[in-house]
Amino acid sequence: QTEEADVMLLSVPSYACQRKTTLQNHNSVFTDALTLLAENAEMEDEDGRGVAFRRAAAVLKALPKAVTSMKQLNGLPCLGDHCQRVIRDILENGISSEAEATRQSERYNALKALTGIFGVGAKTADRWIRDGIRSVAMLRDSGHALNRAQLAGLQYYDDINQPVTRAEADAIGDIVERAVASVLPGAQISLTGGFRRGKLTGHDVDFLITHPEEGREEGLMPKVVSWLDSQGFLLYQKTMRNSYLESKDGPARPPSSMDRFERCFSIFKLTTEQKQEALTAEAPTESQHPESQMKCGELKETGHAGHKPWRAVRVDLVVSPISQFAFALLGWTGSKLFERELRRWAGYEKAMSLSSHALYDNVQKRYLRAASEQEIFAHLGLEYIPPAERNA
Ligand code: GTP
Ligand code: MN
Ligand code: MN
Repeated sequence: QTEEADVMLLSVPSYACQRKTTLQNHNSVFTDALTLLAENAEMEDEDGRGVAFRRAAAVLKALPKAVTSMKQLNGLPCLGDHCQRVIRDILENGISSEAEATRQSERYNALKALTGIFGVGAKTADRWIRDGIRSVAMLRDSGHALNRAQLAGLQYYDDINQPVTRAEADAIGDIVERAVASVLPGAQISLTGGFRRGKLTGHDVDFLITHPEEGREEGLMPKVVSWLDSQGFLLYQKTMRNSYLESKDGPARPPSSMDRFERCFSIFKLTTEQKQEALTAEAPTESQHPESQMKCGELKETGHAGHKPWRAVRVDLVVSPISQFAFALLGWTGSKLFERELRRWAGYEKAMSLSSHALYDNVQKRYLRAASEQEIFAHLGLEYIPPAERNA
């Protein structure tokens, strides 16, 4: 009787964009193993396998409680034989032997170390490993030719691989606000990515910039970047013009007037003082609070303990015209799997093409406008899922 009830309780729709996935995960023992296998597949350039593991992990993340028996998996989507084997192994032995073997393998660790360098993807890492390079130290000693991004990635390796906190994200946000306000008053900034979904830490900080008057945002990125650079905030930056019209992403092509997407992958220099300012400016009444005093004390200490008084932080900036803002906001909020599932839903279930620029109806042969994320979900025939529940 209880088992039947369990089976009933554990039912989820098959697309991640049809489900609410909060950060509260009752099945992390399983999803950690599946995520490690997904990462490994992605680093091996086996994206199909990677997605299969990520979909399975996302199904378990959406469950209201911990899985305790294989029977509970009956009727759940996206759990193929391989994933079921991993889950059974954990249920029976406490660990997944495959995940553990991968975690300990020399190849996995070399790929993880090398792709952990900003500017290094799976293919480059594989090439270096075939040249006998298995660690960051070996790469440093190898004298290999590195591009500008990879040089910066090596230079700031330790900082970049240390998670960014919410306080640091807010401090970066203050700096970006100042930059944008001084080059284009009236422009608006939104925090996107994992922090918008409520994550407490991230691998970077993501921002989307727009202006309420269409066209005013044009050419904004180079101005923002040169302001930031002149103030000494940038350790690295690569600014890209919108490549949207050249992309082969199918029919979700907007009219040429929309060819205005610009973005910047950067590394910020965040000083201890800037972080402190953000902490105190945000909650002035809380500065008497023992916990926030402790935080400031810790910050001061790192500044005076012989360490450098700043850290490098990865920051992504995107500029979007207001007419595409809702699509850009939805597209840059993530999670990556949630985005992938939204596009799959649009294509397979609705005959529509969704991108970070537009939504195209392949049957009506027209673009569907939207001024908010809610309108995009409505066009797609989906219940609205707020950012905090897109953590698939
Ligand atoms: P952490 O940064 O690790 O905390 O997670 P995150 O969810 O913020 O990941 P990330 O910063 O890598 O990406 C944030 C969102 O931006 C995700 O939804 C991605 O799909 C999206 N994104 C990242 N790169 C690109 C890109 O090149 N093009 C588009 N359109 N979207 C991207
Ligand atoms: Mn991010
Ligand atoms: Mn990012």
